[in-house]
Amino acid sequence: MERADDGIKDVQYRFPKDFWLGGASSATQIEGAAREGGKGLNIWDYWFEKEPHRFYDGVGPDTTSDFYHRYREDIKLMKELGHNSFRFSISWSRLIPGGIGEVNPEAVDFYNRVIDELLANGIEPFANLYHFDMPLEMQQLGGWESRKVVEAYARYARICFEKFGDRVKKWFTHNEPIVPVEGGYLYDFHYPNIVDFRRAVQVAYHTIVAHAKAVKAFREANIKDGKIGIILNLTPSYPRSEHPADRQAAHIADLLFNRSFLDPAVKGEYPQDLIDLLKAHGFLPVTQEGDLELIREHTIDWLGVNYYQPRRVKAKETLPNPYAPFMPERFFDNYEMPGRKMNPYRGWEIYEKGIYDILINLRDNYGNIECFISENGMGVQNEERFIKDGIIQDDYRIDFIKEHLKWVHKALSEGCNVKGYHLWAFMDCWSWTNAYKNRYGFVSVDLKTQKRTPKKSAYWFKAFAENGGF
Ligand code: BG6
Repeated sequence: MERADDGIKDVQYRFPKDFWLGGASSATQIEGAAREGGKGLNIWDYWFEKEPHRFYDGVGPDTTSDFYHRYREDIKLMKELGHNSFRFSISWSRLIPGGIGEVNPEAVDFYNRVIDELLANGIEPFANLYHFDMPLEMQQLGGWESRKVVEAYARYARICFEKFGDRVKKWFTHNEPIVPVEGGYLYDFHYPNIVDFRRAVQVAYHTIVAHAKAVKAFREANIKDGKIGIILNLTPSYPRSEHPADRQAAHIADLLFNRSFLDPAVKGEYPQDLIDLLKAHGFLPVTQEGDLELIREHTIDWLGVNYYQPRRVKAKETLPNPYAPFMPERFFDNYEMPGRKMNPYRGWEIYEKGIYDILINLRDNYGNIECFISENGMGVQNEERFIKDGIIQDDYRIDFIKEHLKWVHKALSEGCNVKGYHLWAFMDCWSWTNAYKNRYGFVSVDLKTQKRTPKKSAYWFKAFAENGGF
């Protein structure tokens, strides 16, 4: 592959030699072949069939980026672009159609081929078990509200460790488990589009129980040199000011959105303040005997950190409407900081220092647990307008990555246990209800032809990997 001018002259920010560099993905967002290879349906296939108007430009999950058929070509490209690791997810509904029952041999074969291809190209597979894609029948059984689904997930996890654990050493139980809670049970951007705080709390709680059961199954599988973790979108909560009411608002947002998963996963217990808060408002989840021991005894080995944007909050300005559904915003108002830098396409603030604040928090309050940046990235609309000489000149993405990496570098130099950086995403992919509106990849995907073309950022990242810094 030709090396485009990467703009790296002298290395000012040097990273460790074995720093994991690569891209992330998820099954539903890249595989396509939604009704092929014996795959069962998941909630995305179903929701799109029912309500295609909820998806940008009416594009659904059926084809996406066709990784199912083109994985060889894509993995070859990863290697050419200097990546040493790749995160993908296993589709539960592909491996076990319906979520429970027979294992689909075609799926086992597919994931085996992907894993073997990655290894043959010197790329370490990072496998995630659940990325927003509940099998339809499991949702019909109640989704994460149901203990039966928790058990089915634990069985699915065990099967994955048995089938692939001889070659995959780096595992995750969930990606951003707070998102299906927010999307599916509070803010109406995932199926089943329920707005109900009580059910949201139950879903979050059962997700952690399912996670702990998967960790237990992992320990029992005894995978040599294996590690298991969870991937969390740790969105730092910044108060508008140091006023105690603003600080309290930020504290509650942090409890609800970050610590509700971070504390049980890393420390094996829920923060007392969160328990007190839920209790005071009558929202404690239904628990079972043995849950708390299970969670306590099955903490993680390492953590994936997804970071896109900060959360800024202030004390509430008005009393809540007593008739409106109970929402996290009962405790805070969102705050738009004057002068904030925005990614206008996604509507997310860009605040690079947030990545450093997360890492310092992990160092100081979570035993400096081993972690890596498992997602960071910038979705941009209509990137074709930046094509020059056949390549998307995404200098904005290079700047975005660099500015975040500078803070990761500072965190490293201050003793944070951060081991790598994955961009969201390796290649353009299907962004749930946003479909292909915003493009995130190092590699662009032409949806008509499925042709892959690396963007300028891909060459910059390759040079970064080769030079050990920038
Ligand atoms: C993360 C998810 O929330 O952010 C990905 O793990 C997602 O699945 C990515 O695609 C970017 O967000 P979005 O909504 O723009 O696709």
